This record gives sequence, structure tokens and C-alpha cells, in this order.
Amino acid sequence: MADRLVIAIDGPAASGKGTLARRLAAHYGLPHLDTGLTYRAVAHALLQVGLPLDSEALAAEVATSINLGALDRDILSTHEVGEAASKVAVMSSVRKALVEAQRKFAESGKGAVLDGRDIGTVVCPNADVKLYVTATPQVRARRRHEEILSKGGTAEYAEILADIKRRDERDMNRADSPLKPAEDAHLIDTSEMDIESAFHAALEHVESVTSAKQA
Ligand code: DC
Repeated sequence: MADRLVIAIDGPAASGKGTLARRLAAHYGLPHLDTGLTYRAVAHALLQVGLPLDSEALAAEVATSINLGALDRDILSTHEVGEAASKVAVMSSVRKALVEAQRKFAESGKGAVLDGRDIGTVVCPNADVKLYVTATPQVRARRRHEEILSKGGTAEYAEILADIKRRDERDMNRADSPLKPAEDAHLIDTSEMDIESAFHAALEHVESVTSAKQA
């Protein structure tokens, strides 16, 4: 492996990018940052103290104080926090503060794996490897639905699908750092793949890029 390795992974909600990021980080012994959690942490902090979600000045102040070492996935992964996160994620000054912290994370040590919506395009434009992980909205909604049912919860597939489409619309059409593949990203469509095949497709690409660099 090269001295340093930064892997940038982007894609829409429930595409499988988070699982791939965790697997790749474990494989290469690199720290992993789910940058969605940083937007969620800002939203959660505002919700917790009953502050409005539409004040950019307040949200930006909260964003500068987010501790990347204390992001609690269990607390931050609720639907309510996700909805609120996609609202604060349109604010440029929130993005500026979080991107700065995310870049520091990527620049330290022997590298990192980061996943989100703008990692290959904005946060780490010089990443060694860029992956764009996607799947059809229907497949992503089905996965989310099955995940909720398997944990004993209840949910309507149609509602999840509508929610995923709404979230895509907001993430892909915002003015600042919209979700899109970087020009040099390698696309992985997981619609017809299980996680094992997706991991092998990703690994194969990372290996081909890193061995070409070393040659
Ligand atoms: O991936 P997620 O559901 O945890 O992300 C929560 C929200 O944060 C989502 O609406 C997209 C936004 N986000 C972003 O704008 N940029 C990132 N790098 C990561 C997430």
C-alpha cells in the first residue's frame, strides 16, 4: 500500500456507501468518517435545545463546535434528525465549518476513508481513490424497509420511497456542493449486487489504482 491512502466515497442515501466505507477502512486499517453524521450532529444539537432549523448563523456556530470524535450513530440515525440534517446541509456556512473539520480528518495520519455526498468533489478533490456508489430509488427504499422490519419496526414501503426521492431531490439540487459523481469517480451501481459483490468491486478498483500509482 502507498504511504498514505485517502478514499472518497459518495452516493445517495441507502446506496450501500456506508457499509462499503466501513469495510474498506477495516481492510486497509484506516480511520473512517461518515460525514453525514457531522450534518446530523448539527441538526441534533439544534433540535435538542429547541432552536430553529432555519437560522444559518446559529447552525454555523453549532457546526464549528462539532467534535468528530464524539459522533454517536445510535442517537443521530433517527429519521427526524436525518430530515433536519438535510435542511442544515444546504447552508453554506455550515458546510464550510464541517468541510474544514472533515479535511483535517482526511489529512492526518496515514489517510482515511470518508463517505458522504461531496467528498470527491469538494472535501477531498485530490483523494487517491474516488467511488460513487448508487442504486435505483426502488432498491434503496426496499433495503431501508427490510432493515426497519428486521429490527422489529414498522414502516410503509411507499412512504420510504417517497422520502428517499425527496432526500435525493434536496441533496442533488442544492446550490452548494450538490450530490454528483466527481469527474474521476469510479461508479458502482449496487442495484443488482449484494454487499459482498459490491465490496469486491470496490476493492478491485482501489487495488488497481494503488498498484498503478506504485508502478
Ligand atoms: O448520509 P446521511 O443520511 O447521514 O446524511 C444526512 C444529510 O446530510 C443528508 O441530507 C445529506 C447531508 N450530507 C451532505 O450534504 N454532505 C455530506 N458530505 C454528507 C451528508
